[in-house]
Amino acid sequence: MRARFEVNGREVEVAVEPRLTLADCLRHHLRLTGTHIGCEHGVCGACTVLVDGKAVRSCLMLAVQAEGSKVVTVEGLSNDEGLTPLQASFRKHGALQCGFCTPGMITTAHALLTEEPDCDADRVREVLSGNLCRCTGYVSIIEAVLDARAAYKGGAQ
Ligand code: FES
Ligand code: FES
Repeated sequence: MRARFEVNGREVEVAVEPRLTLADCLRHHLRLTGTHIGCEHGVCGACTVLVDGKAVRSCLMLAVQAEGSKVVTVEGLSNDEGLTPLQASFRKHGALQCGFCTPGMITTAHALLTEEPDCDADRVREVLSGNLCRCTGYVSIIEAVLDARAAYKGGAQ
């Protein structure tokens, strides 16, 4: 089957097996390997991308289901000029170690901060509770997201 959708602002058309997940399509067909695959059944959050602005587990979605959608991966949340405020906050707070969970944390946090730039720590914990991290203990990640809120007030980053 053919699937046509937008990825990080670029129109793509890929020939895929009907059962191919969006996660595998992004990584293997489009070489966007920033999207990580951990559990492959919706538990770890490492594969989270934005689909039409919503945080979605790309291991639970088929590539053909993305037809006509706007997909943004962690690569699409960076720029060539330097770290974004959210990335800078992760670095400042030491919110990553091995980095395996980081793409999912960044995409999930970006969706949250875009919709709720005034969210409190409880809300950040609630939203990120579906993203597993085996290294940091989570505290630094929560602090990083809270610290990045100011950058999202008045418009998405
Ligand atoms: S790989 Fe998708 S949620 Fe774990
Ligand atoms: S930094 Fe290693 S899993 Fe989160």
